Amino acid sequence: MTDHDYEQILAAVGRADRIVLGQIGQSLDGRIATASGESKYINGQAALAHLHRLRASVDAVLIGAGTLVADDPQLTVRFCDGKNPARIVIDPSGRGIPGGRWLAPDGALRLALSPTGKAPVECDEVLAFEPPGDAPFDPRQIVQLLAERGLRRVLVEGGSRLLSAFLDADALDRLHVMIAPVIIGSGRIGLDLAPLARLADARRPRVQTFAFGDGDILFDCDLRSNAAQTDQSTEPGAKP
Ligand SMILES: NC(=O)c1ccc[n+]([C@@H]2O[C@H](COP(=O)([O-])OP(=O)(O)OC[C@H]3O[C@@H](n4cnc5c(N)ncnc54)[C@H](OP(=O)(O)O)[C@@H]3O)[C@@H](O)[C@H]2O)c1
Repeated sequence: MTDHDYEQILAAVGRADRIVLGQIGQSLDGRIATASGESKYINGQAALAHLHRLRASVDAVLIGAGTLVADDPQLTVRFCDGKNPARIVIDPSGRGIPGGRWLAPDGALRLALSPTGKAPVECDEVLAFEPPGDAPFDPRQIVQLLAERGLRRVLVEGGSRLLSAFLDADALDRLHVMIAPVIIGSGRIGLDLAPLARLADARRPRVQTFAFGDGDILFDCDLRSNAAQTDQSTEPGAKP
């Protein structure tokens, strides 16, 4: 993939009418943190800049309460030019940290999603959602709620449970997996999905890869496609 292709990927996110994009940075063995919870930084500087370019391309960035408590992230655009997106935390059991860095007043919307419609922090807005009963939230309902609020291009930044829930619910259109050339060996796994009965049921999205200078590789997965149906490549040894 060329630099031009990479720019096309980012441009497509920025001009989409509606898109839900997941992003995860992980080791070669699929870990996003050590067993003790250390996660800064698995990926290199270029990957961080990529994440910030994604933030600058969307209306809103969404994280789970687990990430809020573990990382206290700012969720702003700092390693590239661009406007800060709205910052959203989904907080099913009201764990939010008062004074968290995501609440810094910079003009970007700070929104909490809560089943009660109340949040334990001073944010700009709280949207109430209806837990479906068998899970703390329904990702597709969350996407719809945000779209109705005018937030149609959403970056789901993690962590593991949030992103996995969105993927299991088929609520992501694209997934960016940034793989660092490091083996951690134990610790939190990036994606942990519902078990499959058959390997044939595994998702095989169409994927483009992009190698960054400091060794990270980006897998840009189009989750609305199926590589098995769209792959036009020729098997080795097959007649053209
Ligand atoms: N490398 C990366 O790209 C990256 C990015 C972001 C975060 N992280 C790491 O991810 C870790 C945090 O991830 P996490 O999985 O603990 O938390 P999380 O995904 O940030 O948050 C999970 C959220 O889902 C809720 N939840 C509870 N049960 C669930 C279920 N069965 N299915 C789906 N969601 C459920 C939780 O609610 P309750 O509050 O009620 O439990 C919580 O709000 C941290 O170590 C952080 O550093 C890594």
